[in-house]
Amino acid sequence: MARQSSELTMEERLAFGLDRIDQILQGGIPKATCVSVSGPPGVGKSLLATHFLLEGLAKGEKCVYIHLNEPDSSIERMIRSFGFGNQLMEYQKKEALVIRGLESDIFSKRLTEIPDRLSEGKYSRVVIDGFNVMIADMDNASFRNNMRSFLEKLKEKERTSLIVSEMDNHNLSNFEKMFLYGVDGIIFLHFMRFGHDLQRTLFIPKMRFTKLEDCEPAFSISEKGIEILRS
Ligand SMILES: Nc1ncnc2c1ncn2[C@@H]1O[C@H](COP(=O)(O)OP(=O)(O)OP(=O)(O)O)[C@@H](O)[C@H]1O
Ligand SMILES: [Mg+2]
Repeated sequence: MARQSSELTMEERLAFGLDRIDQILQGGIPKATCVSVSGPPGVGKSLLATHFLLEGLAKGEKCVYIHLNEPDSSIERMIRSFGFGNQLMEYQKKEALVIRGLESDIFSKRLTEIPDRLSEGKYSRVVIDGFNVMIADMDNASFRNNMRSFLEKLKEKERTSLIVSEMDNHNLSNFEKMFLYGVDGIIFLHFMRFGHDLQRTLFIPKMRFTKLEDCEPAFSISEKGIEILRS
């Protein structure tokens, strides 16, 4: 039987360190789940994911950031462009954070081998960024055969993962829909238009073991990273 949200203690949730988001999530993402973060280019997907890693690192957890669509050299540049990027790179120096790009040997043609490589370390938080390249490359058979076992294996050893993809959340392909059906939680980031202005918003339509609020808070990006705006 599915666990009820009230059964999860705070130790069984992993916070973002962003008050309003953690409040919506009753404390954070349930441990040992796979959660999708998707949205259009530049909306703040990678930034949200790095907040998640930074919070874990500050608590002494070991974390991994993998980008399936960026060479190693450009990942560090991207991370350093975030206000707290240098802090993250310090954790990498101390070997609490592992960062791997496109050229890493952690990747192979087989999706399901990524969790095997992750199992060699004791990581509590994993971010797999640029995942849309994996979805775009799949045919029906490989999707059916590999995606379910990939998601199950990612959750082994109590790992909690954010899977970050560029997607048009309002116009999903069939594979994107199937992928979102298979994950435990979904975080959509959007650009909303108000007259001549654009506003970034965050919407969580699904999160297992969690009673979600029906809300779509707006957020802005500054040197401090993501800041949820009070409505
Ligand atoms: N200090 C800052 N102040 C304001 N905006 C910033 C700041 N630093 C970064 N940004 C903005 O944050 C956005 C980058 O966020 P991020 O890289 O997380 O987006 P993304 O959704 O992952 O994009 P992509 O699809 O290109 O990977 C950019 O639009 C950038 O202009
Ligand atoms: Mg990104």
